[in-house]
Amino acid sequence: MSARPAVLITGASTGIGAVYADRFAQRGHDLVLVARDLARMEELAAWLAARDGVKVEVVRADLTDRADLARIEKRLAEDERIGVLINNAGASLPGTFVEQGAEAVGKLIDLNVTALARLAAAVAPRFAREGSGAIVNIASVLGLLPEYGASVYGATKAFVLSLSQGLHIELGERGVYVQAVLPAATRTEIWARSGKDVNALQGVMEVGDLVDAALVGYDRRETVTIPPLPDDRQWADFDAARLAMAANFTQSQPAGRYRDAAR
Ligand SMILES: NC(=O)c1ccc[n+]([C@@H]2O[C@H](COP(=O)([O-])OP(=O)(O)OC[C@H]3O[C@@H](n4cnc5c(N)ncnc54)[C@H](OP(=O)(O)O)[C@@H]3O)[C@@H](O)[C@H]2O)c1
Repeated sequence: MSARPAVLITGASTGIGAVYADRFAQRGHDLVLVARDLARMEELAAWLAARDGVKVEVVRADLTDRADLARIEKRLAEDERIGVLINNAGASLPGTFVEQGAEAVGKLIDLNVTALARLAAAVAPRFAREGSGAIVNIASVLGLLPEYGASVYGATKAFVLSLSQGLHIELGERGVYVQAVLPAATRTEIWARSGKDVNALQGVMEVGDLVDAALVGYDRRETVTIPPLPDDRQWADFDAARLAMAANFTQSQPAGRYRDAAR
């Protein structure tokens, strides 16, 4: 593989994905942009190709559509020029769980969970064989915060975080880098798309700042990058507290508080 592998970015027509495209083009990488809005991607592709002299291909795909998703999986599995997957496409939902309904919930999981995991699964065997490659999964701080009123969205992002941490261990030893990025509120269209007013929020990060920080984490080969978190010891402490429980899960008997109550 060349020194600068091509980068496939999902959800590259706007927002965080479009900025990743901008930054990887600046770094001299060829790109494959994936989303549903072809016209927007073509405009971005033309601009980046002219500015940076890189090759930018656009592929229209609805990642909730199994046939479209299969085309992208095949591309990732077979195209040896692609050495980086930015698993960024994602959405949120308006309303509460009671209002959202099974159809919308299922569709959100199709995009945020199923498509992301299937794309990683499609590319991982090739990357592992090659002993190189990177998978960047865009999660969210809401994956840590079920209290914040976005139950299904938050749960999809908890999946992305957990998957990334597991893949980091499984694939890291095969030479493949896996990063989870956890943005907090960032100024993109995701808010309007899910019926929310981003201007009503405090502490919203600009999308360029978010991606530039995430790329610092990428260059440092961090497993988990939380761009807005001022003190990274808080994440380290949280992770350590989780792991401290692990040894205590190995018990042949239920804990006393249950055992005693069941007698
Ligand atoms: N902005 C935030 O505050 C924030 C915070 C934490 C995490 N995130 C995460 O960051 C990622 C990017 O979000 P964003 O804020 O940049 O949102 P955005 O501006 O709404 O962009 C989402 C991107 O995903 C694409 N997409 C949506 N549905 C798709 C589908 N069915 N098939 C293929 N592509 C699809 C959209 O393109 P088309 O419409 O052209 O398909 C668009 O390019 C998401 O995973 C999101 O959950 C965002």
